[in-house]
Amino acid sequence: MTAGASASTALGRTIELQRVGCELAGSDLYARVLAAVARDVDDGGPCRQVLEPYAEAPVGDAILLRLLAGVHALVLDGTLEELAGHYPSVGGTPGPDLGAAFVRAVGAHVPGLASVMDSGVQTNEPGRSVALLCGFLAEHRPGLPIRVLEIGASAGLNLLFDHYHYRSAGWSFGPPDSQLRFDDPWVGRPPAARGPIEVVERRGCDVDPIDPSSPAGVQRLRSFVWPDQLPRLARLDAALAVAAAHPVEIDRAHAVGWLRERLAEPPPGVVTVVSHSIMFQYLSQPDRSELLDLLERAGARATAATPLVWLRMEPGGEQAEVRTTSWPGGRTRLVARSSYHGPPVASLL
Ligand SMILES: C[S@@+](CC[C@H](N)C(=O)[O-])C[C@H]1O[C@@H](n2cnc3c(N)ncnc32)[C@H](O)[C@@H]1O
Repeated sequence: MTAGASASTALGRTIELQRVGCELAGSDLYARVLAAVARDVDDGGPCRQVLEPYAEAPVGDAILLRLLAGVHALVLDGTLEELAGHYPSVGGTPGPDLGAAFVRAVGAHVPGLASVMDSGVQTNEPGRSVALLCGFLAEHRPGLPIRVLEIGASAGLNLLFDHYHYRSAGWSFGPPDSQLRFDDPWVGRPPAARGPIEVVERRGCDVDPIDPSSPAGVQRLRSFVWPDQLPRLARLDAALAVAAAHPVEIDRAHAVGWLRERLAEPPPGVVTVVSHSIMFQYLSQPDRSELLDLLERAGARATAATPLVWLRMEPGGEQAEVRTTSWPGGRTRLVARSSYHGPPVASLL
């Protein structure tokens, strides 16, 4: 499958990168759809109309995921009946006409889709909790509880990592009666460290937080799941059930200012863990520098009574990488490699 002549333009390269990304991450459906999008852009069709204003956007802005989710939302709400026949998320089976049906769907909804292109990517993937758990465990200090501060938290589903159950032979973490269970999520051995981990505070921020208790919020979260990845949809629904029982507070705020306030006066006797997953790419270069500087300065102030951990799951090529930096001391470790949506996860400690 190729992306067509448009691969020689910035927009064509962005589409091709996303197509390959979807293929590598196991979505044959989106790989096929994006090949059709590339051809339609070459032909000057409706996909070009919607995407052209974002042609120079950095790859990290993930403009294709915005379009794909906008269309998926219309499938989920019953608007796009023809395309629904190809989408397993609503009981369909991808057929030979999939790409053409997608392009027709875009053609019928250009103004609506153009308006969703300005909203950010809201993939709140609870499977990433498996990868993040490696970091929480690696930095766990028995006897010391933690407070978790997540930036770019979306609906906050990964702030509930300790409410999910993870299990493999002779190893488990989290409540066995959790509605979200990860069976054998590891490549190789599970993490060497074990819990329990006591979370005394959990809080997140997002520039556009999603309320997981509202039907609109649930619909938005589901629209960002790739339609042929039914296990991901099932675990999102399970995580939403956990979130309903354990609501978390997500402030509508920009990461840098929010974190500066939260790190100003760390509570003693608690490990402060700043976490984020697949969000760094959405920060501007100055914001990234400011965030790193903020963490360095907070780390320099950390003491044995007020330790600080920076836990992040961010792109590392074909896979995501999980790293921790802990203060006092400022030691950085690579603790896991993971698929972008979580399992399978290779724990490195
Ligand atoms: C791809 S989603 C990842 C969500 C969640 N971290 C996860 O892994 O499931 C990126 C999130 O970062 C948020 N975001 C982007 N820029 C931000 C900023 N400057 N401050 C706070 N949140 C931001 C977006 O609104 C979005 O919810």
